[in-house]
Amino acid sequence: MNIFPPSDQRLYPFEFYAEMRRLNPVAYDDHHNLWGVFRYSDIQNILGDYVTFSSAPQKLDSWSTEKNQNADTAYRFQRQNLVQSDPPYHRTLRGVIASAFTPTIIAKLEPHIEEIAHEMLNKLIQKGSMDLIEDLAYPLPVTIIAELLGVPIEDRDLFRGWADKILPSTPAERYRTDDEHGTSKNIAQVINEMNSYFSNIVEKRTQNPREDLITNLIQARADGRSLYKDEILTFCTLLLLAGHVTTVNLIGNTILSLLQNPREFRLLQGDRTLIPSTIEETLRYRSPAQAVGRTVTKDTELGGQKLQSGQRIIAWLGSANHDESVFTDPERFDITRFKSFHHPAHIGFCNGIHFCLGAPLARLEGQVVLRIILQRLQDLRLDIDSQDQKSKRQDLIPVQSFFLHGVTHLPLQFQRGPIKDGRN
Ligand code: HEM
Repeated sequence: MNIFPPSDQRLYPFEFYAEMRRLNPVAYDDHHNLWGVFRYSDIQNILGDYVTFSSAPQKLDSWSTEKNQNADTAYRFQRQNLVQSDPPYHRTLRGVIASAFTPTIIAKLEPHIEEIAHEMLNKLIQKGSMDLIEDLAYPLPVTIIAELLGVPIEDRDLFRGWADKILPSTPAERYRTDDEHGTSKNIAQVINEMNSYFSNIVEKRTQNPREDLITNLIQARADGRSLYKDEILTFCTLLLLAGHVTTVNLIGNTILSLLQNPREFRLLQGDRTLIPSTIEETLRYRSPAQAVGRTVTKDTELGGQKLQSGQRIIAWLGSANHDESVFTDPERFDITRFKSFHHPAHIGFCNGIHFCLGAPLARLEGQVVLRIILQRLQDLRLDIDSQDQKSKRQDLIPVQSFFLHGVTHLPLQFQRGPIKDGRN
């Protein structure tokens, strides 16, 4: 059974998810050798039990026997990767970096993020049109994470090229099946390129420490030791990629959802205190990360199905966030849903020990961009030729990754807002 939304429903996978939750909440996909899990409660069970559902990559037997160097590079990268590790190693790695991402530390970045967003908008405001993704949603988070790490933002095309190559666009790429070796080779090439790029910067920071995350990583102590160089390089790669590939979609998905729900958009324009809850509702409704992967470590039962040790799982966060047994009227984009404290939590940032480390930063970036768009732009609308809503849906192109959710371009038209506080 297919556990992936059909390719023509990538931007609107909600009906597919609803049917899976109803009829096949834990389903086996023979073609990809994967379990797909769709209900909120089953996914929460997975995320809460890292012993049975491991994040660590499983080394395939063929890798060592064939001494496939590329596969080994990919495996080594994954094994030292925070997001693909289990306790106790996960605790060690997370402890090194967690203090740099607390909400209090991140909140201090707000004026700087605002300044950058204003500068980006200053360049566009005269034109009356922009591609939200190219002009704002992508450059803003990549600039911030590059600054935090201490790498030159002029290299951002390089970062984008790496992200495009390394992020799996098909399940086969992520869960090596028929193209195992071709994929390992491509990924190994990118990892080697990134490693030599960061290696250079790590050398420089070791000689001349600065106030940035790379210097923090060099100076950090974990379990009484410094991090190994490989671990530092893997961290740099993870933070650079995780720091921008999802936030771009949070910003794009927020504006897209508001434009498709004009009543909610008007509500927000009249009440800016709804900005944080609008961002939370986007994280639920159009979750930028739709899925996480895990591996079963011992025979177990889930949702009435028997899972065997060694089998792999895709937990569809995007489906859990639309689960009707948890969220009232889940197919409605409702920006007041998360206004009070009395609501079930969405799991757009995952849950459990791997809860997204960058959540405070992603939330802040999303809120700042939305606030500035509301302040400075008026009469915002989609700039596509289509005459009716139905074909508008077809004109938007989904991002090429099976676990990310967003659009590649979001062309907008707008009027310049009135001048306030010396701006516009
Ligand atoms: C809207 C934006 C974002 C979304 C939706 C998102 C989503 C996620 C999800 C679902 C996970 C869990 C993966 C798993 O369990 O397999 C995760 C982990 C992680 N995220 Fe994010 N993320 C976002 C932004 C960021 C940013 C801005 C950063 C960095 C600055 C970041 C850094 C990380 C890291 C380091 C982890 C690994 C945490 C761990 O394994 O303990 N993320 N994120």
